[in-house]
Amino acid sequence: EKGTYPHYMLKEVDEQPFVIRKILQSYQNEKGELTIEADILNALNEADRLYIVACGTSYHAGLVGKQYVEKMANIPVEVHVASEFVYNMPLLSKKPLFIFISQSGETADSRAVLVKVKELGHKALTITNVAGSTMSREADYTLLLHAGPEIAVASTKAYTAQIAVLSILAANVAKSAGIDIGFDLVHELGIAANAIEVLCDSKEEFEKIARDYLSATRNCFFIGRSIDYYAVLEGALKLKEISYIQAEGFAGGELKHGTIALIEDGIPVIALATQKAVNLNIRSNVKEVAARGANTCVISMKGLDQEGDRFVLPAVHELLAPLVAVIPFQLIAYYAALHRNCDVDKPRNLAKSVTVE
Ligand code: M6R
Repeated sequence: EKGTYPHYMLKEVDEQPFVIRKILQSYQNEKGELTIEADILNALNEADRLYIVACGTSYHAGLVGKQYVEKMANIPVEVHVASEFVYNMPLLSKKPLFIFISQSGETADSRAVLVKVKELGHKALTITNVAGSTMSREADYTLLLHAGPEIAVASTKAYTAQIAVLSILAANVAKSAGIDIGFDLVHELGIAANAIEVLCDSKEEFEKIARDYLSATRNCFFIGRSIDYYAVLEGALKLKEISYIQAEGFAGGELKHGTIALIEDGIPVIALATQKAVNLNIRSNVKEVAARGANTCVISMKGLDQEGDRFVLPAVHELLAPLVAVIPFQLIAYYAALHRNCDVDKPRNLAKSVTVE
């Protein structure tokens, strides 16, 4: 039940700190270490390449997961949109392992790939919020998200749960390969949960951003680089699906290869800056669009912030930045939709679970 909340989406946004803490509890052993079942770890260790397959928001979480597995555990990962993969399968490595990410575990496009790769004799792991869902039953292994029921069509807490679980998966693979990831994931996920809580208490800031930047626009751009690029893709999807503002996420450096032609006076460009290695690069992309009249809104991370940034996120480990950066995006989308009298929980043309291909 949504209780005193006006919308399920807002309730589910607010639940995110608890979801991260629930995941920490659920995946910790008696020694306090984050573990996954031995047979899943074996399957991951045996693979020479992981293929993550998903749709929509779950696909965006998969992109972040690729970073985790490649950066922490040194295993190559490909991430594919399910509806493309099924009809245009890439060449597979010798020992592939498939990872399906699906909040519902019922998405037809993702399931079609699962059925196909099982027919081909490959092993599959489903990461889902619904124990006993079709894709959980049909895969060899399941990792649960422990996010609790997600009712709003716009996925929020499932995304943060997917990212948290993917970080745990990556850290486990790294550990079994004898790789030191260089930080304490339990501690850092705890810090991220606290940071999310702080952001959920800053709703009026995000309502103001929605009002200042999005009340009179039909289009909006989101830009980011490196892992921030993946986070802005999710920011754009959230905004378009519930507010019907045309929103697109771009890699900051790619703008000059075409998209910058669309920048004109007053167009909102929301830029994310949480990654030290590319902070100066994204800053120059912001200048490029500002010089062409864009109404720029920089959301940065503490420590990388500069004068004029519209909002500064609490500092978290760089790899976990998407967990916190998505909160402003979810809330900005929520308020933009509200200001336009859109049906936040049930956007037009969309269903919670897309069970047709
Ligand atoms: O249940 P799934 O995670 O498989 O769903 C995938 C997408 O349909 C879903 O993430 C969709 O993009 C959401 N409406 C996004 O908010």
